Amino acid sequence: MALPQRCAAVVVGAGPAGLAVVGNLLERQVGRIAWVDPCFEAGRVNKKYREVPSNTKVSFFQAYATAVQPFRTVISSTPIPNAFLTISKLDQNKTCTLDHAADMVRALTDGIVGMDEVDQCVGTVTAATLENSRWTVSIRQTSGDIEIETTRLIMCTGSSPTNLPIPLSTMNRLDLDVVLKPSELATRLDRHTPQTVAVVGASHSAILALLNLVQLARSSHGDLRIKWFTRHPLRYAEFMDGWILRDNTGLKGLAAEFARQQLEDDRLPKSEAGRFITKIDCGDGQEAAQFDAHFPSCDHIVHAVGYTRDPLPQLTLREAGKAEPETLLQPDFDHETGGFYDQHGRVIPGLYGAGIAFPAKVVDPLGNVEYAVGFWKFMVFLKRVIPGW
Ligand SMILES: Cc1cc2nc3c(=O)[nH]c(=O)nc-3n(C[C@H](O)[C@H](O)[C@H](O)COP(=O)(O)OP(=O)(O)OC[C@H]3O[C@@H](n4cnc5c(N)ncnc54)[C@H](O)[C@@H]3O)c2cc1C
Ligand SMILES: NC(=O)c1ccc[n+]([C@@H]2O[C@H](COP(=O)([O-])OP(=O)(O)OC[C@H]3O[C@@H](n4cnc5c(N)ncnc54)[C@H](OP(=O)(O)O)[C@@H]3O)[C@@H](O)[C@H]2O)c1
Repeated sequence: MALPQRCAAVVVGAGPAGLAVVGNLLERQVGRIAWVDPCFEAGRVNKKYREVPSNTKVSFFQAYATAVQPFRTVISSTPIPNAFLTISKLDQNKTCTLDHAADMVRALTDGIVGMDEVDQCVGTVTAATLENSRWTVSIRQTSGDIEIETTRLIMCTGSSPTNLPIPLSTMNRLDLDVVLKPSELATRLDRHTPQTVAVVGASHSAILALLNLVQLARSSHGDLRIKWFTRHPLRYAEFMDGWILRDNTGLKGLAAEFARQQLEDDRLPKSEAGRFITKIDCGDGQEAAQFDAHFPSCDHIVHAVGYTRDPLPQLTLREAGKAEPETLLQPDFDHETGGFYDQHGRVIPGLYGAGIAFPAKVVDPLGNVEYAVGFWKFMVFLKRVIPGW
């Protein structure tokens, strides 16, 4: 194993959040940054969501891409045609498919990893130990393991779809990632066999799952039927006087349009979607009874019930004078500062987080609490908190 290198920061994850962290740290000239990811290809937005329609306007992707000087430097030095030019030509007030956002993040990443202050580490952070306010970070690479010392360790490790247990052995799980990718979904379902898919949930992912399944049913998979299990009414983002109600949880973009036009109770019976979808109301404590009644007639199930943080590397504390050599840390994220507390409520020095796994908490003028998830929202949060890191 090589001797520990020292860096001003180790950033774990090269999705949109990790990239935003690196851009901000470079702008603040903190020193050398080690940036770790197994592939440096824009995280899940590129790997899984390229065919997903965005729920934010193109202008927010542009705002993200131009928010810090190092990004602007990359944009101005990247030969054209490039992803920045492509996205700048889209209607800024409309949404787009996420392939544009993914290509933009990849192009920024390609430029940023070439900068002198950035050490690109293709690999996975497996563990980190804190001692005297310094972290020793273990990184597994194909060429072998290395260690890097730092005073700032920043977790941008992302989240994956929440999978609840499959309720019946006769049901097959359809992965939410697959259902959100129409080109793959079409190949996963047999077009000649009558089959029913249970969709559980009613937020963005669930509505796009319904949309994609309906599109299959009305085109190539005519015998496909959908049972939609929802426990709350459709909720939309609403423009108020200078702010947005349900900005982070309400339906927007294509999902909102489809839901309003085809899924509302007064629309579904007459809409095209209603030819294929049966809505199963699970509100008011009816969930268990409705599941019992309807799951036996379903062949597949897709849980569209949110996203769960991907596991963090093992984090430990080495304290002088303690009998045990190392204590396992159980980090609890502080959505105000981007830092973490340990299991005793003490601040964990030098440990920070950002992105879908570690978002900012926001409170709207009516006192509703939400978590700010989105490219531009990560950037706004980071610009506020990074000066304190
Ligand atoms: C379906 C969907 C659609 C969305 N649409 C939009 C949208 O339209 N507009 C918008 O602004 N936002 C959108 N979002 C929200 C958000 O922008 C994305 O979820 C975004 O991908 C989150 O980026 P991230 O960097 O936090 O995580 P990720 O993209 O998941 O990246 C995490 C990275 O960390 C790496 N990693 C994890 N663990 C380790 C480790 N131990 N060592 C090294 N690397 C590690 C992973 O390999 C990965 O590359 C959407 C989210 C979802 C789920
Ligand atoms: N570009 C896009 O259009 C797009 C698509 C998908 C996701 N996203 C983004 O990704 C993030 C996550 O979105 P999301 O829609 O996947 O999830 P989400 O916003 O976290 O909402 C989760 C939903 O699942 C429901 N739910 C949770 N547990 C359930 C259970 N056991 N049974 C039934 N329903 C359950 C919740 O209902 P309750 O409120 O009743 O708990 C809620 O409606 C958001 O930031 C979103 O903007 C964007």
